[in-house]
Amino acid sequence: MAATAPIPHPYVRPPRTGAVPLVSAKELDALLRAPHPPLAVDVRPSEERKHAHLPGDRHLPLDQLPAQVESLPRDRALVLYDHLGFRARVAAEFLLDRGFDRVAALEGGIEEYARGVDPSLGRYSDAARGAEWIVRQLPRLDTGCLTYFVGDPVARVAVVIDPGLDVSPYRAMLTEGGWTLAGIVETHTHADHLGGHAGLHAATDAPIFVGHRSPAQYPHRSLSEGEAVRFGSQELVVLETPGHTIDHLTLRLRDQIFTGDTLLLGSCGRTDLGGGSPDRLWESLQEKLLRLPNETEVYPAHFGPRHSLPERFVSTLGFERATNEALQQPTREAFVRYMTEGWPPKPKNFDEIVAANLVG
Ligand SMILES: [Fe+2]
Repeated sequence: MAATAPIPHPYVRPPRTGAVPLVSAKELDALLRAPHPPLAVDVRPSEERKHAHLPGDRHLPLDQLPAQVESLPRDRALVLYDHLGFRARVAAEFLLDRGFDRVAALEGGIEEYARGVDPSLGRYSDAARGAEWIVRQLPRLDTGCLTYFVGDPVARVAVVIDPGLDVSPYRAMLTEGGWTLAGIVETHTHADHLGGHAGLHAATDAPIFVGHRSPAQYPHRSLSEGEAVRFGSQELVVLETPGHTIDHLTLRLRDQIFTGDTLLLGSCGRTDLGGGSPDRLWESLQEKLLRLPNETEVYPAHFGPRHSLPERFVSTLGFERATNEALQQPTREAFVRYMTEGWPPKPKNFDEIVAANLVG
């Protein structure tokens, strides 16, 4: 896959490192047949590994990598892999930061390896997680934002989280898949882009859900801690996580959390764009998100300039706990300092964007 140009985004700090070397499935196949093959390292959790893995590999889940990094050989090339390629890039970047110099990530993951090299491995896009629910991550290249389409594939009922202004992709997905839209959720009042909640509501009549502290002036349903947005047999459970904004929600679906801008990959959303508070963000992280299990998958609302565009922007709480710059701050005071210094300039028109988002 061709690398996509990094997207500067005002919520995300500048990159710490350069690009991660990638190997294609065919290149890895050739390397594994060569006299001194690299060690393939599977960074997926055990549940996914059950489905298929590369022969002769080592299993070291991403959330355990920081603690066990020194168990990896430094005298052998390492090729990190996962399902689709993204967690492997995060892991490879982590190893490069720690002085491993012969590291690469498998582009397209084991899915691409199974497709292009060894069909006996089988492919498992949705099957790996069972068919109880599906998550489609929809990157918006113009704004650097991530929208989520979450659905019960049996009942064909879905929810869209943080839709972009152009709602035509979501309408097409709903129509083509025969989905009914149960709700539109805004994790918070956005200051960097115009949301598509009003347009999607107009097109589908689905209710818009926002946090109860939101000053939204359009018709909506308010959500508080512990409440849920139901879709088919599934539900998104609300965690109130103010800090990036006062009205911020994180939504939990079993072992996955949709963190909005409360927790990004490698950082947190800035707190200085109206109504935010680094102290409240510290409390939301310490008292809510960091109490969840390490295996919890983190689906943020933004992607940053550190990565070219992978298939999915996902991490685990354990990995973020061990590596995320914001989560490395040892005290509340250090965290507040981190959140108030060193950020890019504020977007010029953020107050106008906030105002437009509040009237829908
Ligand atoms: Fe935001």
